[in-house]
Amino acid sequence: MNQYYITTPIYYVNDRPHIGHCYTTVVADVAARFQRMVRGHDADVFFLTGTDEHADKVVTSAAENKVTPQEWADRNAAEFRRAFGACNGSFNDFIRTTESRHKDRVIEYITSLLKSGDIYRGQYTGWYDQGQEEYVTENAAREADFKSTISGKPLVKRTEDCYFFKLSKYQDALQKHIEAHPAFVSPSSRQAEILGRIRAGLNDVPISRPVTSDPATQWGIRVPGDDANRVYVWIDALFNYLSGVDAPERRTFWPAAVHLIGKDILWFHAAIWPALLMALRASSPAYDWVKLPHTIFGHGWWISEGMKMSKSLGNFISFERLMGYADRYSLDAVRWFLATQGPLSGADADFAHAKFIETYNAELANGLGNCTSRVSNMIDKYFGGVVPENAHDGEFAPQPGGGSPIDLALAARAAAKNPAPAGAEGRAFHFPETIAFHVKRAIEDQAAFDMSASLMHVTEIVRFVDDFISHTAPFTLAKTMNANPDAKPALAAILFACAEALRVASLLASPAMPTKMAHLWRDWNCAPAAGVALVELARYAGDHSLKAGQKLVKGEPLFMRADPAEAPPAEKA
Ligand code: MSP
Repeated sequence: MNQYYITTPIYYVNDRPHIGHCYTTVVADVAARFQRMVRGHDADVFFLTGTDEHADKVVTSAAENKVTPQEWADRNAAEFRRAFGACNGSFNDFIRTTESRHKDRVIEYITSLLKSGDIYRGQYTGWYDQGQEEYVTENAAREADFKSTISGKPLVKRTEDCYFFKLSKYQDALQKHIEAHPAFVSPSSRQAEILGRIRAGLNDVPISRPVTSDPATQWGIRVPGDDANRVYVWIDALFNYLSGVDAPERRTFWPAAVHLIGKDILWFHAAIWPALLMALRASSPAYDWVKLPHTIFGHGWWISEGMKMSKSLGNFISFERLMGYADRYSLDAVRWFLATQGPLSGADADFAHAKFIETYNAELANGLGNCTSRVSNMIDKYFGGVVPENAHDGEFAPQPGGGSPIDLALAARAAAKNPAPAGAEGRAFHFPETIAFHVKRAIEDQAAFDMSASLMHVTEIVRFVDDFISHTAPFTLAKTMNANPDAKPALAAILFACAEALRVASLLASPAMPTKMAHLWRDWNCAPAAGVALVELARYAGDHSLKAGQKLVKGEPLFMRADPAEAPPAEKA
């Protein structure tokens, strides 16, 4: 797949941005940036986020705030856009369901589905959760004692004229598609959940809501040709993924590579949405291009200090709280934490301060940050801040006759009565192969949407370099430079290998930490060339490697160590 289209859910414009929203958007951002780097061509990736604005709640909140629903939506959509900008989201577009470019498309889609008969008029009676704006099945209502599982408020019985979507017609096709495409619903635990529900049988679903004299019911897209009904907000919202690229110059991005969502909205995305797409495609030759997305990925939830986040407890990690962390520890550290410690694979993840500090210190301050500082300090001290000559192939193995850089380093250690760590004697370090392995795996992990596994290759490269440094002790070798003419080239080979490996690590880290890595690239004079694919950029000592003789500034440490005793940061005003 040469083009890559990734989406986030579009967020209810009534909420204040919080960690749930920022998480999905940051993870999608890391994926989008990684894919741009893999391709070396930004224009092949399209990343869409936005806001879902036609919920009834928008009307009530707007009234409470004495503004029109549109003004309320404008104001809050701007908040989301600002929040995602502050998280350094590199979205290509921000779609709002109140924009005519979206509404006009939805009307076209519904018109086509009305014509083909997959949307038809009927009557619906059911249990309605007013807070969630959704009907609950009879069974689910009974199990929950006719109360909302979300708000706890009583469900209400409603009968209304409405339009249905023939979901039942697509039961077989859906089931077959999901069974034949294991990546379609990911991770696999989610696939089992969805298949179970589909196999149990699908009923047609209501996709409209009546328009009455209540202003809250007048907000939304009217069913084409029927002003007494409007399109249900969920159907309206799902179509954003298509309307967002339904323009001649963008249509090639469809089908989406990944719809990243939270587990709570899996049913809409993994059952209703693909069935709608199948129906739309079948409705007219004009929609021949409307294929099914490649992956619907349902992540788990963040909890906070061990407790479920809920509106009633008021313990949501707000966007402002995240920015408090960003101010103190850097935005990139927050992005790294979200991307590596988040609930992507399914189990919920805890946003606990102690865990943030532990991750930050281990992986960033003492990991990548410390390792880059050590190496640039040595290059500064022993080579005047200039990348040393690399007269070596990156294969550091002890030689039978001795004399290789690793032998010289070990001999220097022995002479200084500073022996190599126990058991490490005779160890070989294969830089080109190790680097190629991590790059390849990081790309594969990204393709499988395993964000933390992919980023752990950064930490593994850092560990490899740290091991190499403690094995060879280049600072000990440096002390012998006056007495031994072979010591300097050996030291050069060792430090070049370390710096070059870290350059590659910085590439793999950059989708999560674009700002910090750009600082490193500026200091090290190694910003990746535009238009070059990752495998080329990341080749050890390849065409895009560090160049001997180039200036390498030691710069500020990338991440200052965090004091675990310090109180958690406050919300940033
Ligand atoms: N508007 C709908 C989505 C329509 S998409 C066609 C909606 N919006 S939402 O704002 O309520 O939620 C958006 C996303 O935030 C969901 O994917 C949801 O899972 C996610 N999160 C909300 N709280 C969350 C956590 N505590 N943790 C992680 N994600 C969570 O649903």
